[in-house]
Amino acid sequence: MKKRVLSGVTSTGKLTLGNYLGAISNFVKLQTENELFIFIANLHAITIPIAKKELATNTLEIAAWYFACGIDPNVANVFVQSDVLEHTQLSYILLCNSYLGELERMTQFKDKMQKTKQQNKTISIPTGLLVYPTLMAADILLYEPDLVPVGSDQTQHLELTKTLAERLNAKYQANLFKIPQQYQAQHSHRIMSLQDPTKKMSKSDDNPKNVIFLSDDLNTITEKIKKAVTDSENIIKYDIEKKPGVSNLLAIYASITNKTIAEAESYFASKDYSFLKTEIITTIHNLLAPIQEKQQKYLSDQASLIKLLQQGAENAKKIAASKLQEVQKAIGINYQ
Ligand code: TYM
Repeated sequence: MKKRVLSGVTSTGKLTLGNYLGAISNFVKLQTENELFIFIANLHAITIPIAKKELATNTLEIAAWYFACGIDPNVANVFVQSDVLEHTQLSYILLCNSYLGELERMTQFKDKMQKTKQQNKTISIPTGLLVYPTLMAADILLYEPDLVPVGSDQTQHLELTKTLAERLNAKYQANLFKIPQQYQAQHSHRIMSLQDPTKKMSKSDDNPKNVIFLSDDLNTITEKIKKAVTDSENIIKYDIEKKPGVSNLLAIYASITNKTIAEAESYFASKDYSFLKTEIITTIHNLLAPIQEKQQKYLSDQASLIKLLQQGAENAKKIAASKLQEVQKAIGINYQ
């Protein structure tokens, strides 16, 4: 039987190679044998300040990237989070069943809070940042997915989703929510920042040199990889602790070429950093160039793109509405 798969990407900025390798490439792999619900999390995007035009543009651009990366609109249901109102409704119910302490403990909340404070010491912390994981839990629990393909940076949010599901099942009705499982591809890696390989490559990074964007052309990729931090040893070996920069480059290479780290290491044995970087530049460019061309095609016909998203939302809504009704009944909100 087909398994149901659900995941999303937040429309806070331009998509990165990390988003592709950690998430989108898995969506594509999973689509042939499973039922997919993939969305653009534009409500999560407003948990930090974002310009109106940027948010709208990012949303459509991500949709175009999804399809360009190989998500088949005839197979997968691709939609925009805000088009399915049930997400916010269930989110509120989950929020009322969460505790301040558990939300405050989320590392992503702590990191984003710290970053916001660093940027502007007098700025207040938006509550949306704190309740981000309850919206994510609603995104997931509405669809009763078997698998949620996300990178390891989202593991804590997924654990909280399970906790909330179990809490409501115990409080209201056993099996009200299905307990979701995280899916990570066998050789998946967390892709790190090019200049500071101890932190993740992030689309909201202020320094573009840290990030390979899916839209980067050959010159930009070359410049960024050439400047990527390594070390002075000139030995190509995977050791995250002692050689985080080289390890990150090896992980990028291995992920794109579907090799294990050991295979990548042996491929580069006795080669120097200059060779490693040249190979990686070519590998990234060969991956991205055809995707970029397809993305432009999808973007150039916005009416068709929007139609695909609306069809996806319609399909998603059928499942979401029925689940929400069941939850409302179970907790006594549905009084009729
Ligand atoms: P977001 O937009 O931060 O990231 C989207 C996906 O990309 C993965 N990812 C990475 N993987 C490897 N290396 C990296 N450097 C890297 N950066 C990002 C993330 O793990 C994620 O899988 N909260 C989610 C969006 C979301 C969601 C959901 C996902 C909202 N609701 C429900 C699944 C289910 C997020 O911020 O993704």
